[in-house]
Amino acid sequence: MRPLVDLGVKLGAVTFLALAPVSLTLAQDSGPGTPEEAAQKAVELRQSLFRVIGFSFGPVGGMLKNKVPFDAAVAAKAGERIEELATIIPDVFNEDTRKFQVKTKAREGIWTSKADFAAKADDLAKAAAGLTAAAKGGEKKAVLQAAAAVGKACGACHDNFREK
Ligand code: HEC
Repeated sequence: MRPLVDLGVKLGAVTFLALAPVSLTLAQDSGPGTPEEAAQKAVELRQSLFRVIGFSFGPVGGMLKNKVPFDAAVAAKAGERIEELATIIPDVFNEDTRKFQVKTKAREGIWTSKADFAAKADDLAKAAAGLTAAAKGGEKKAVLQAAAAVGKACGACHDNFREK
């Protein structure tokens, strides 16, 4: 009997060791962390959103510069994606990170002129909807005009709310 008991104990130990790193990882991901860590995560979240927005605009920006062949279907998809992503912008700035040492280009007006910032996000959503509509019409000139309006909506917010 003795060896079986030993085996059971050993298996138990092996199982515990195998699971331990997993539960530690989960604890790190879901733990509340310090306020500084929470602020850093908030910055990473919003910068990730803008990277996805930039990724979505990429092909359309390429069409505007004549570096990517014109494709109305691609432009329509970009318009749909950017319209949806734009609605998330104000939400990812709910966390006011001004009093923390974080690496960010966000300017303080985002939190002191919230309505204006939200309006700039809304302008982007509307411009993106305009791009989708134009792209579904398929006329190149109208699509490129609508694409330029999307780019302007990006710039209008950056000029006011993002450090150079
Ligand atoms: C409502 C305001 C607003 C609009 C609209 C907006 N941006 Fe931004 N964007 C910002 C702010 C603020 C930052 C800086 C975020 C930070 O560093 O915390 C930023 C950062 C970025 C970044 C850098 C992300 C990184 O890696 O740090 C990219 C790329 C970007 N924006 C692209 C775009 C594009 C493309 C559009 C239009 C399709 C757009 N943005 C529209 C406010 C805006």
